[in-house]
Amino acid sequence: MKAVIPAAGLGTRLLPMTKNSPKEMLPIVDKPAIQYVVEEAVNSGIDDIVIVTGRGKEVIENHFDVAYELEKVLEERNEEEKLNEIRRISQLADIFYVRQRLPLGLGHAVYMARKHVGNEYFALMLGDDIILARKPCIKQLMEIHEKYGASIIAVQKVERKDVSKYGIVDYEEVEKGVYRIVDIVEKPSRSEAPSNMAVMGRYILHPSIFSFIEKTKPGKNNEIQLTDALKLMLKEHEIYAYEFEGKRFDVGGKLDWLKINIEIALKRKEFEELRKFIKDEIL
Ligand code: UTP
Repeated sequence: MKAVIPAAGLGTRLLPMTKNSPKEMLPIVDKPAIQYVVEEAVNSGIDDIVIVTGRGKEVIENHFDVAYELEKVLEERNEEEKLNEIRRISQLADIFYVRQRLPLGLGHAVYMARKHVGNEYFALMLGDDIILARKPCIKQLMEIHEKYGASIIAVQKVERKDVSKYGIVDYEEVEKGVYRIVDIVEKPSRSEAPSNMAVMGRYILHPSIFSFIEKTKPGKNNEIQLTDALKLMLKEHEIYAYEFEGKRFDVGGKLDWLKINIEIALKRKEFEELRKFIKDEIL
């Protein structure tokens, strides 16, 4: 299966940081956010990845490419560990790039990958959503897809007060954690929301989604919304939602970006002192 990672958004929630730097390259401790997403795909057995980029996103391509000068310097200095890590990044997978010339919305970004994807189910992974899980989230979805042979969307329950930040699904349970989607709405108000089950940035999609995106008119924020295309698709195809195991961070927002940095750092032995620092000097 191929994976599509849209990374062409403007990232206005992270301004001023994102004025001239892509949010997907923000560090999560010592790796850029998008590397976590690429590694999730690779750890799920995906080795063909297309990243949708746009203006100012060239550093993403450079990050996954060979850094010849750097490798040479590290070699001369015998810094083997660093050298291996740098090389590993450029060998993670076959990564292809397509450009979204204007950031016209997530649906439009996904559409840019249609020629690369062809006529097969594909994994869609948002470049600014990081999911920490025992089994990679997209692998969990791939397993449910195997069982149901249909499109699958990752969901989790959110607090009612937060429904307007997400795509929200209306559903019927088919087995524990698996739901048949009845309706889907992009960022509804609290009173309009059919449930508190929210879409979380990981999907396995049938290639017919591209033809539904073509028929989708600009929606919320005047953008071509993937949710609106999924709503059209629902009329003709079964789509399932899967409540995955794992913790999701929307690193396109400042609070989740701070949280995931602390969470990952506190798990690493080299930052042991951080816990003490927070306890003694911050709290
Ligand atoms: P967001 O909803 O986070 O949008 O996109 P955004 O425009 O990047 O961010 P804000 O709201 O201005 O802060 C979800 C994912 O879809 C991609 C983003 O890069 C992100 O991975 N995206 C969004 C595109 O690739 N193109 C678009 O036109 C919009």
